[in-house]
Amino acid sequence: MAVLKVARMGHPVLQKVARELTPEEIRSPEIARLLADMRETMQDYTGIGLAAPQVHQSLQMAIIELEDTEDAAPFTVFFNPKITVLDPELQGFWEGCLSIPELRGYVERPRKIQVDFLDRDAKPARIVAEGFVATVIQHELDHLAGTLFVERIRDLKKLVFTDEFERHWLPSLRADSVLAD
Ligand code: NI
Repeated sequence: MAVLKVARMGHPVLQKVARELTPEEIRSPEIARLLADMRETMQDYTGIGLAAPQVHQSLQMAIIELEDTEDAAPFTVFFNPKITVLDPELQGFWEGCLSIPELRGYVERPRKIQVDFLDRDAKPARIVAEGFVATVIQHELDHLAGTLFVERIRDLKKLVFTDEFERHWLPSLRADSVLAD
């Protein structure tokens, strides 16, 4: 296993639509190794999600793992995911991204979604997510479409450096409205 280099905002791989994987590819040793490396990379950066384009692989593949939060989610890998919005009411969180270090931005997204995807055995799977987990998944799957969270910020006054965020914004926020990945 290895910690992989993370692409940063401005790299073309973060701006293009990733390609789908075939079931054969999903079950291949190469993808198993990439998955293990992505998980190690996410943990090394103390992230809660990572998408393949962030490690320079333009593939429809993303992982999440949330521990120690109110809305915990087990380690999950999504291949070729499709999102359906179940509740379009918007909820806002302060998001971060390993590809955009040192910045935080306030983003509103639908509060409840369904995701249809292939699991690591290339079998069809479906999950329903709401709240914080729904935002984390939408953030990660945005990467597969070449979209970064900064493109979804409506009020650019709410795009701030992390240290300024912690000094000036965090004290008045609920702890659960911060997303770092
Ligand atoms: Ni990200």
